Amino acid sequence: MIRARITGTGSFLPGDPVSNEALIRDRGLDSSDEWIVERTGIRSRHLAPANVASSDLALEAARRALASAGRAAGDVDLIIVATSTPDFVFPSTATLLQAKLGVHNGAAAFDVQAVCSGFAFALATAEKFLRSGSHRCALVVGAEVFSRILDWKDRGTCVLFGDGAGAVVLEAADDPGILATAIHADGRHHGILSVPGHLCGGQPIGDPLLRMDGQAVFKFAVRVLAEVAAEVLGAASMAPSDLDWLIPHQANIRILQATGRKIGLAPEKCVVTVDRHGNTSAASIPLALDEAVRDGRIRAGQTVLMEGVGGGFTWGAVLARF
Ligand code: ACO
Repeated sequence: MIRARITGTGSFLPGDPVSNEALIRDRGLDSSDEWIVERTGIRSRHLAPANVASSDLALEAARRALASAGRAAGDVDLIIVATSTPDFVFPSTATLLQAKLGVHNGAAAFDVQAVCSGFAFALATAEKFLRSGSHRCALVVGAEVFSRILDWKDRGTCVLFGDGAGAVVLEAADDPGILATAIHADGRHHGILSVPGHLCGGQPIGDPLLRMDGQAVFKFAVRVLAEVAAEVLGAASMAPSDLDWLIPHQANIRILQATGRKIGLAPEKCVVTVDRHGNTSAASIPLALDEAVRDGRIRAGQTVLMEGVGGGFTWGAVLARF
């Protein structure tokens, strides 16, 4: 039976960290470092310069993931980019990344749009392609420039997000690898987190900035993250005690802590980057994964649960052995 294994990770953050104090000063916000840290755990984030797009961040993360897997760009036969802030309406960010990487072998390339669950959706999708035998080497990327869709006059949302990209190389293998995946959506909740504008002739129409009911999002996120964790653990006949690491989508430290408690996991088993990255949507899980792999926390043979929740609403999880 063909299985799929993560063989390399990479990530990229644009520019220098922007502290809460600097953000408040530069954007003229009526807020404070204390409020932001206490409610969200966020201390700083990275913001991409105006001339940098999601495909540029994806390119750096992808190059690093390929290098860590010992693969050349030409080895890749499938590229999936998870993003809600694509460079264009079309072509997809995945095809732009393909061109920038110089992959000219006819590899399939497409985007996945599941907001903050995007990376879990993309990884679960790639795993199915590899297990089917149709593809052998996938590049799975989460890349976002959320700073472009924020209302900088709305202090309740603009302090929460950041820009960045993370990537993994997923290869066909004899052993797992990916132990279980689950992805879900419930469109009835589309109203609690959305960017309710659209483009016409390249111009934004309506309200093209992020709107959120923070408390409704909070409650929904904690519930479904605990549920989907139980689902993939059950599918792999494992218990929370079998987990070495939990990498939840990095939305807010209080969501991460509440999720860890609901799953029954010690806080030190949760990888946390939200304090330094903010919420980078589809990029947050692969950014955190790459950090924990590179600093030696995640080691070969360990079991890692990655899970995301985001607008739509969407949620999903990937249970993997490294
Ligand atoms: N600085 C200072 N005060 C603020 C700020 C700010 N940046 N933002 C809001 N406030 C004020 C509000 O105006 C309000 O003031 P009022 O009482 O005078 O009206 C007060 O703080 C309380 O506002 P609430 O919205 O009730 O604050 P809450 O405790 O719910 O915290 C937060 C808001 C942090 C957004 C919280 O609801 C939350 O974390 N929700 C989860 C949402 C999330 O993480 N979304 C990320 C995207 S979704 C995802 O990734 C899954």
